[in-house]
Amino acid sequence: MRRFNVAVVGATGAVGEEMLRVMEEVDFPVAKLVPLASKRSAGKEVTFKNKTYIVQELTEDIFEKEDIEIALFSAGGSISAHFAPFAAEAGAVVIDNTSHFRMDPDIPLVVPEVNPQDIAAWKNRGIIANPNCSTIQMVQALKPLDDAFGVQRVDVATYQATSGAGKSAMDEMVNQMKDFFNFKLDESPKEKFPHQIALNVIPQIDKFMDNGYTKEEMKMVNETKKIMHKNIEVSATCVRVPVLRGHSEAVTVWFEKEITPEAAREALYNGKNIIVMDEPEKSVYPMPINVVDKDETYVGRIRKDIYRDNVLHMWVVADNLRVGAATNAVRIALKWIEMENA
Ligand SMILES: NC(=O)c1ccc[n+]([C@@H]2O[C@H](COP(=O)([O-])OP(=O)(O)OC[C@H]3O[C@@H](n4cnc5c(N)ncnc54)[C@H](OP(=O)(O)O)[C@@H]3O)[C@@H](O)[C@H]2O)c1
Repeated sequence: MRRFNVAVVGATGAVGEEMLRVMEEVDFPVAKLVPLASKRSAGKEVTFKNKTYIVQELTEDIFEKEDIEIALFSAGGSISAHFAPFAAEAGAVVIDNTSHFRMDPDIPLVVPEVNPQDIAAWKNRGIIANPNCSTIQMVQALKPLDDAFGVQRVDVATYQATSGAGKSAMDEMVNQMKDFFNFKLDESPKEKFPHQIALNVIPQIDKFMDNGYTKEEMKMVNETKKIMHKNIEVSATCVRVPVLRGHSEAVTVWFEKEITPEAAREALYNGKNIIVMDEPEKSVYPMPINVVDKDETYVGRIRKDIYRDNVLHMWVVADNLRVGAATNAVRIALKWIEMENA
């Protein structure tokens, strides 16, 4: 198999580090690895397949200089806005984890289990966007159900881990917990979230928009429609919880057809990268602690609505750094290799 020169932009971050791990696990066909970050981290070391690599500073000309063919970006929206076009111009395919390009009609927004065919549109601008973490795990669970029963509407409440806001946000939660036990919580920094996150839940992720929803909530609304190529009604409430890793979602789905939990389970068993974990009588259902470092999306608490035969409720959990970011990006890259370089 041909091997590729790969740049990881944001290689020192929560998602970037996970990308390196996932690429190592799937034996990604890397010819040369180029880890990139800001000037602050230039000179630091990262490890990939037992080899040490020096992090370089991200510059406009690095992609051309290093002859990069695949560039995985996860360094923030403004960084992608500025630097991704330089990578694409140098001939690389950019797989971008930030929200910057997601809703651009020329740029495909891909979850390989749902809309792999959209990867072909990478040629438009040389960029493929990776969806928001909460959207990825939800559409993975919706896809097999939509194929069998036709999804009309989704009402979702999320319980999102602090790692969704990056490494420093995880640290802030841990420090607040430590300070709580040292009776110093009042003095603990509270910068990464609008309120204290330790021992709390915050019904706000990102800024509020004019319609009363947050940007995170509207990402779930708009991205779901774009990925599923369907005008599904989505209503989301996104909540930050004091969990380090693993997003959970309480999802209510309205279907065109009648549905039973048994039929839903059957459809989900056949879904790609979905694991049904649903034995309530034994208190078996997915929780964030079950999904850390896993590459599948877990579904449990599958039950029929009390009032309507076409409505189902379920609980969907996945590792936000993997399924919601790194694994999805690496799967896109592998699919791109299969489609464009076979
Ligand atoms: N966390 C998630 O679950 C998740 C899921 C999907 C998408 N994303 C998106 O992925 C991106 C990164 O998230 P993260 O959680 O990995 O954040 P993070 O832990 O804060 O890491 C940020 C990374 O970006 C680099 N960076 C920052 N400023 C830079 C600059 N000026 N030039 C080059 N590199 C720079 C940092 O390098 P330094 O070490 O030099 O600071 C670091 O490697 C964000 O856009 C986020 O929205 C995150």
